[in-house]
Amino acid sequence: MENFSFYRPTRIIFGRGSEEKVGKEVKKYGKKILLHYGGGSIKRTGLYDKVIKSIKSENIEVVELGGVKPNPRLSLVREGIGICRKENIDFILVVGGGSAIDSAKAIAAGAKYDGDVWDCYTGEKAEIKSALPLGVVLTIPAAGSEVSPDSVITDEDGWYKRPAGGEPLISKFSILNPELTFTLSAKQTVIGVSDILAHVYERYFTQVKNVELTDRLAEATMKTVINNTRLVLKDLKDYNARAEIMWAGSIAHNDLLATGRTGDWASHMIEHELSGIYDIPHGEGLAVVFPAWMKYVYKDNVSKFAQFAQRVWDVDTGLDDLEGTALEGISRVETFYREIGLPVSLGEIGIGEDRFEEMAAKCVEDGAIGQFRKLEKDDIIEIYRLAK
Ligand code: NZQ
Ligand code: ZN
Repeated sequence: MENFSFYRPTRIIFGRGSEEKVGKEVKKYGKKILLHYGGGSIKRTGLYDKVIKSIKSENIEVVELGGVKPNPRLSLVREGIGICRKENIDFILVVGGGSAIDSAKAIAAGAKYDGDVWDCYTGEKAEIKSALPLGVVLTIPAAGSEVSPDSVITDEDGWYKRPAGGEPLISKFSILNPELTFTLSAKQTVIGVSDILAHVYERYFTQVKNVELTDRLAEATMKTVINNTRLVLKDLKDYNARAEIMWAGSIAHNDLLATGRTGDWASHMIEHELSGIYDIPHGEGLAVVFPAWMKYVYKDNVSKFAQFAQRVWDVDTGLDDLEGTALEGISRVETFYREIGLPVSLGEIGIGEDRFEEMAAKCVEDGAIGQFRKLEKDDIIEIYRLAK
């Protein structure tokens, strides 16, 4: 096990009716807030009215900025930074999913940074030394941004989708009411599930040895997500199944599962090119990229992939055939994705071969990617080909 320092200070307020506490939580940090949200789902579901009522009851002033698109855009971030400066905003409340949260984090950082916020996402990456405090009411379990220090933004100028991160971006509180996820369609639910599983894979597939506790925590998280996805697809309003998935979404990405080990993250970078350029949902891109990555790298640690197959996918081909066991595990990942309605090939989401070179080149602009196995441009092209 490697040395580590683990600090994740977000207060999680979980369960039925928890959004009613939002006003009291916000009051601890701000008097004049920016309320940031997406394309309108919160108005359709009635959540917006509840949040406004709770905030107004604490006499908090609200300035609004909605309209965050999935794969959130830099232009709206810049607009938000302008509003925060002009209006002297002291706190940002996000109601929504990963896109709205990431956009809010970028605004929070940009409002406290003298230069252009994009400096924090590209090139040498300016350090995020401070940010406006923010809080979250989560409406979709997927990105894990409600507990992560990261933000992923797309610059429409060149369609660069890039991450930034820093402790000041960690949410002060995140309100998680599984009932708020009842309105997610089956499709949107499984796209989220794909991202949650991917966050565990990225940490699980490590070359670091003697990490039994985190291996087993990761395996429990994956099994829980797999079991409860099947249940939720039978009944989209199954509270307990929604609750398991929602909590797993945060556990998958709050870095507890990364303690003492080094994660990979190449698949995320390979995917970000797809959602950056083709504007597909991140989870859909991951469902296509991850099995291809697994097929490309499994030989670098067959026994880890065999363990994954046996413990997560109940493969029973015996320890004498490690490679067969490993390959059967990867095949079961794809079978599960097909079963729940996710795509497993680029062809299914209408993406052809014409930009493989360009995307692979963008992936390695700052050098080789991945830790489980270092990937250069040609490796990445090969992974896109395996995903065809
Ligand atoms: O925009 P609205 O109208 O709210 O609709 C959203 C959106 O269309 C809808 N939705 C959300 N909650 C709903 C709902 N519809 C009905 N009922 C509800 N309760 O769902 C759609 C997707 O929302 P989005 O926020 O885009 O989803 P997600 O949470 O999957 O976020 C994806 C973004 O997060 C980034 C991804 O790259 C992507 O840009 N990620 C962020 C990470 C982080 N900050 O740590 C890590 C991840 O790996 C990921 O890269
Ligand atoms: Zn992700």
